Amino acid sequence: MDELPLRHPLDLYQITRLLSVESPHEIEQVLARARTVKKECIDNKVYIRGLIELSNICRKNCLYCGVRRDNRGVRRYDIPEAEVLETVQHAMEEGYTSLVIQSGERTDQVFIQHIDRLLRKIQALSNHGMGITLSCGEQNPETYRRWADSGAHRYLLRIETTNRDLFRRIHPCDGSHLYDNRVKALQCLKETGYQVGTGVMIGLPGQTVEDLAKDLLFFRDINVDMVGMGPYIEHEMTPLHSEKDRLWSMEKRLEKSLLMIAVLRLVMKDINIAAATALDVLSHEGRTMAFHAGANVLMPNITPAQYREDYLIYKGKPVLQEAHDLISRISAGLPAGTQIDFTRWGDSKNYARRISG
Ligand code: 5AD
Ligand code: SF4
Repeated sequence: MDELPLRHPLDLYQITRLLSVESPHEIEQVLARARTVKKECIDNKVYIRGLIELSNICRKNCLYCGVRRDNRGVRRYDIPEAEVLETVQHAMEEGYTSLVIQSGERTDQVFIQHIDRLLRKIQALSNHGMGITLSCGEQNPETYRRWADSGAHRYLLRIETTNRDLFRRIHPCDGSHLYDNRVKALQCLKETGYQVGTGVMIGLPGQTVEDLAKDLLFFRDINVDMVGMGPYIEHEMTPLHSEKDRLWSMEKRLEKSLLMIAVLRLVMKDINIAAATALDVLSHEGRTMAFHAGANVLMPNITPAQYREDYLIYKGKPVLQEAHDLISRISAGLPAGTQIDFTRWGDSKNYARRISG
């Protein structure tokens, strides 16, 4: 890579080329560049968000996801409010200042009110000190507004892939899984004032390196503040499992996921990039490696233990991992000089710049 200086802004050709490198030496060069950019453009920290998987009830039927509506083998749950608040209280005692509340997608009034009340109660409990990210799917503009008013300030909604044909192939054609609606929802979230995160799956059947390069350009074009992206992991009880023979090897999916993080760091220097849990399915050190590729956010799962094995979106998801064990393990493997920071929200600098005009 050193031999070929990069011209900024990076274009499709250069991004594809960077994502295509294969020798361990070249991969390490790309990752090293990303580490330098991270250190220079943001800081030497890894920010923590405690992840609560609130409910696995979902009205959608994504062909890749283990908790899709038609998977009858899943025991459905919705953690009662009092238990969520206990979890939050415990997290605060442990020093967490930022949470992600993730749930299957529901748009009924009961759910909307449930999230709304929860947000208000968490903010009251924490004296408005808790940074709250929601990841609750596509909602209408009023709902996004209402949840923002009640205390959510970041929102994650993955685009999954920006190749429209592939998007169609991995979602049912029932009119409720539309690419354009997803893009509109992301725009609406930005207009509502959220810090907005999106992401894709890497290594979907039939996906190419050029598709992945275009995903990165999409993130830049819509100017997102945060990205969470990880490898696609097949799940036996989903329709997309039938295409498992077309998948890249686990090694290649891991390699491409790390390159995606690193090249994204070169393309969008000061956004927040999360180390996706799915990386740990491909290698015990998967998430640690993400921090060597320029990621700066870790989301330890703090969902009460009894619910964890029912939120199996993909095969082999680590459900027994204790948050403090994960943090110690990750902390021990970080690049030299990088520290975990619990105390600050670690908002994306891109967002600060965006709202200051
Ligand atoms: N492999 C990897 N990621 C998956 N997700 C859903 N199913 C899978 C899978 N089989 C991701 C999607 C979704 C998020 C909640 O989980 O990207 O947005
Ligand atoms: Fe539901 Fe999200 Fe799974 Fe799709 S990916 S089925 S929206 S939980």
